[in-house]
Amino acid sequence: MNILGINAYHANASAAIVCDGKLITAAEEERFNRVKYAAGFPAAAVRHCLADAGLKLQDIDHVAIPRNPWARIATKLYYAARMPRFTFDRLRVMKQFKGVHADLAAACDLDPGTIRARVHRVEHHVAHLASAFFVSPFDRAAVLSTDGLGDFASTMWATGEGNRLNVRGSVVFPHSLGLYYTALSQYLGFWKFGDEYKVMGLAAYGEPSYVQELRRVVRPNNIKGFSLGLQYFRHHQTGPEMTWHESTQTPVLGRLFSPYLEERLGKSRRADEPIGRKHRNIAASMQAVLEEAYFRLLNHLSGGTRQQKVCLAGGVAFNCVANGKVFDHTPFSGIYVQPAAGDAGLSVGAAFYVYHQVLGQPRTFIMDHAYWGPQFSQGATDKALENSQVRDLGCLVKGLPDEELTRCTAQHIADGKIVGWYQGRQEWGPRALGNRSILVDPRRAEMKEILNRRIKHREPFRPFAPSILEEATGQFFECSHPSPFMNLAYVVRPEKRSVIPAPTHVDGTGRLQTVSRQTNPRYWALIKKFEKLTGVPVLLNTSFNENEPIVLTPREAIDCFLRTRMDVLVMGNCLVEKKLVANIALQSPIVLRTFWYRCFA
Ligand SMILES: [Fe+2]
Repeated sequence: MNILGINAYHANASAAIVCDGKLITAAEEERFNRVKYAAGFPAAAVRHCLADAGLKLQDIDHVAIPRNPWARIATKLYYAARMPRFTFDRLRVMKQFKGVHADLAAACDLDPGTIRARVHRVEHHVAHLASAFFVSPFDRAAVLSTDGLGDFASTMWATGEGNRLNVRGSVVFPHSLGLYYTALSQYLGFWKFGDEYKVMGLAAYGEPSYVQELRRVVRPNNIKGFSLGLQYFRHHQTGPEMTWHESTQTPVLGRLFSPYLEERLGKSRRADEPIGRKHRNIAASMQAVLEEAYFRLLNHLSGGTRQQKVCLAGGVAFNCVANGKVFDHTPFSGIYVQPAAGDAGLSVGAAFYVYHQVLGQPRTFIMDHAYWGPQFSQGATDKALENSQVRDLGCLVKGLPDEELTRCTAQHIADGKIVGWYQGRQEWGPRALGNRSILVDPRRAEMKEILNRRIKHREPFRPFAPSILEEATGQFFECSHPSPFMNLAYVVRPEKRSVIPAPTHVDGTGRLQTVSRQTNPRYWALIKKFEKLTGVPVLLNTSFNENEPIVLTPREAIDCFLRTRMDVLVMGNCLVEKKLVANIALQSPIVLRTFWYRCFA
């Protein structure tokens, strides 16, 4: 039985295929069209998933869409009567969903009449819940989904048992922890879609001196966990304005905070203004208040379900700082966070929901790694290198056996080089987990600044993350529960902070990835080799990109390597080293580069 899940007509468009209860492939549209958080219809992701699974669209039995325009229809009608713009948006969404057959057929260049699949609409948060529980290692668990808004709800919780999810409650529009965090991020001058995660990094630099005020923005609620002080917001009057331009597919969110927030906290920060102490303190306070509400929800859920384990999804589940404190602030002893916790993960969740809950099939699959994306053969990689300028520019290109490859790469990292590491299947979700990663020595405090100057160009307050051998986690961190998807931040042991200063955040935490020998043997072997050289079983791991979605193809990896000041590129078993002459040629102004090519290349 073949099920295609698609997150369509929404940000983080994606596709996934589940065959007989096992995930075969999953991919986000942004990796193909190179638009971060791309919204719209995931045509390229659908084409890729079908090809990867060896299926045609006609072979698909069920299509699962994580949105149900009929969910909470009474509430929607109530708001539609008050907000004409909202009515227009709802009608547009319903029209899009009616056209799903046509869009699928167009993506695959087929006649819509040839598609035999039955289309299922799965409510947004139910799909989030399914994306976490049905692929988790737990047979029973409490499940929580928290995000901005989807199908007019912002939060939903359930008990998961075997192949069933029993929804126990929800928080509906206009109350939303995700929208609260986004509104305050906008107030702090971070307006781009997805910028909330920057503010989470900034929070560690401040004191939570605005907590009292922000407790009026997010209020405790004994039944639902929280409610918003609506006078601080405008989305309940204007509608949540998440739009995207068909031409660019970039999602854009309208202003969420009201003038009253500025009355209480002072004027909002412009994006180009410097970040001051007040902004840092507000960031710290909004994180503290989010955590209060998050743990209240989780404790409420723990008491109501009496479960020991918890599964998390939804955009707020990317808050690794809060996730890392779950063991200290709740009774839960086990946690699983879907690697694509945001809306990209809905395609996987909707597909598994149809398989288990709708069709009643048993569970046979655990998502214990995130390597579900596209991959390219060594032949394709070698060809891309041949067609590139790497040799002309004086780069040294070597094919190496596995053992020599990891040893050589570990030595380069220990020598302070910046290494692009491109291997196997691309990661599912926003984190690079050792297959499309840029790796550096975590012992060198200066690497954070060097990475930013030479490649990443990120705000200096944003931390970089460590990858650690799973078995060594407890030696470096105060918690050793596995964190394979880099969505938990743990406290680095005080005596180890000076050992790995580069990926240790200012508050002494690290958003770690625990690397298992079973799920990524090559990356594990590389870190093991680094440990043999240095005594440290940790690498600093950041995504292989430069202000763009993570590189997908070998060509994109090579382009990123050549246009930035990366030192070494490892693609499969091929190691490419930039020599001094290549660096001079690549970093010279265009006139000098032309001269260089004419004379020497
Ligand atoms: Fe969502």
